[in-house]
Amino acid sequence: MLDQIADVGRDVQRGGYSRHAYAAPELELRHWFVEQAVRRGLNVETDQNGNLWAWWGERGDDALVTGSHLDSVPGGGAFDGPLGVTSSLQAVDLLQAKGFTPNRPFAVAVFAEEEGGRFGVACLGSRLLSGAIDKDKALGLKDPDGVTLAEAMRAAGYDPDRVGKDEKALRRIGQFVELHVEQGRGLAVPVGVASSILAHGRWRFTFSGEGNHAGATLIEDRRDPMIPASHLVLAARKAARGGARATVGRIVPNPGGTNVIASTVDVWLDARDVDDARTRAMVAEISDAAGKAAREEGCELRIAEESYGGTVHFDAALRDDIAQALGGVPALPTGAGHDAGILAAHVPTAMVFVRNPTGVSHAPEEFAEQADVDEGVRALATTIEHLAS
Ligand code: GLV
Ligand code: MN
Ligand code: MN
Repeated sequence: MLDQIADVGRDVQRGGYSRHAYAAPELELRHWFVEQAVRRGLNVETDQNGNLWAWWGERGDDALVTGSHLDSVPGGGAFDGPLGVTSSLQAVDLLQAKGFTPNRPFAVAVFAEEEGGRFGVACLGSRLLSGAIDKDKALGLKDPDGVTLAEAMRAAGYDPDRVGKDEKALRRIGQFVELHVEQGRGLAVPVGVASSILAHGRWRFTFSGEGNHAGATLIEDRRDPMIPASHLVLAARKAARGGARATVGRIVPNPGGTNVIASTVDVWLDARDVDDARTRAMVAEISDAAGKAAREEGCELRIAEESYGGTVHFDAALRDDIAQALGGVPALPTGAGHDAGILAAHVPTAMVFVRNPTGVSHAPEEFAEQADVDEGVRALATTIEHLAS
């Protein structure tokens, strides 16, 4: 099934895929999903936050829900997100072929803007649904072209006025199981289950200095915000100790010209560690270093926390139950965030991981062997049968 969507959202400049929420490729994928779900006799609805739900039988409470997302990071791989969606549909195929019908409500969900690749906040669809983000804050989020979420939703035919916490949709989820490609080198067998997700968040550092001429301005006369921005990058690497991760993957100088000293530079920090205290301490260390470097250059610094989520420990009983139903597969922690991590604060949630031989993710080299993908589909079908019989 991934072959069917292999040409959608290819990014010829960056390589890989850029399938951003409510932009044309992601809308095409949504359309494709609806078509595939209908072909299997599922009833599709879109909730008030732009998440899709394909119900096998009647919609109802205490549902078993599986699924993932179809959007990608800029220049991302083919598997992060879509594998969970295609595997869910293929698990339905396997179960329908053997005459199985779930004995409780069952749905395949596709969550909106999981990566935060367009509007900056990850897991936006599940955060909105569960009330983990204020709706006005979410609607005002801007993409790199200055388009707000509200504008993008409206342009795509969704009603932004309906966005916000969706108690009914949340109540309907009895258990959520997300299948996902493993994103590191943590899985040596085809399939495993998740134990935990690192605490993680995103911070935006805005350094302000003085825009000026690259040739006419003496070094001693400059207030160049790129200087403290560079210090921040190095401080992040230094502060990430003992298994912590700190990443600067995005720097935007304004106005951004080769012969122009920037007037402002925005730097986005992604920081992750095992718990709140360690993550916060790491961000404080990086912020202090950035503040000191800004002062030394005569620049100002504004820091905004764009999103944060504490450590997720997946429901132990559900995790062990699934691992056992799959013949005793291993449980492993992950450093990657997921909608499953957001929903875990509200309902018993689990994840099934499929081995990634490259150990690379959020890049075109992300991969899973066909045999492992097939194993993942069978594992998800077994899980659904086990939990909905
Ligand atoms: C999403 O994949 C994330 O971990 O940021
Ligand atoms: Mn994902
Ligand atoms: Mn991802």
